[in-house]
Amino acid sequence: MINRREFVSRACMACLGGGLISAMLSSCQATHYVGGVLEQGGIAVSKSDFTYYKKDKPFTRAFIVVEHDKLEYPIYLYRQSDNEYSALWMKCTHQGSELQASGDHLYCSSHGSEFDKNGAVITGPAEQSLRSFPVSVVDDKILIRLA
Ligand code: FES
Repeated sequence: MINRREFVSRACMACLGGGLISAMLSSCQATHYVGGVLEQGGIAVSKSDFTYYKKDKPFTRAFIVVEHDKLEYPIYLYRQSDNEYSALWMKCTHQGSELQASGDHLYCSSHGSEFDKNGAVITGPAEQSLRSFPVSVVDDKILIRLA
C-alpha cells in the first residue's frame, strides 16, 4: 500500500513521462519520400508535397526526399521559405554511401559524417560539402535543375 504523497508523486511522474513522450512523438517527423517528375532540365515536385495534416490542420514539413528511378541517389529538398528551397545530392562525399536525412541535417551511417541543411560538413571523415542543385519555383511547382 502506498501513501498519498507517494501516489501523487508517481502520478506526476507518469503525467510528465506521458507528456514528454507525446511531445517527442509530435516533434519526431518521419522522412517523407516523394517521387519526382522528370522534365526537361530537371525533376519537379509540388509545394503541396511539403504539407501534411494532423487532425485536419495543415502543417509544413521542413524537408522532403525526392526519388526517381533514373536518379542514382535521392535528393534532399529543404524548405528555407515558401519560395526558397535547397536541394542536395544524398551521396556522402567521403566514400559515396547514401545519406539519411533527419530534420535539418544529413547523416552517413557508414563512417559517421554529418552535413548541415546547406550541405556543409559538420562532422568528418568527409571533407567536402555535398553537391547541390539550383532550384526554381513557379507557382506550386518546384524544379530541381539537374544540369
Ligand atoms: S562513406 Fe560516408 S562517412 Fe564514409
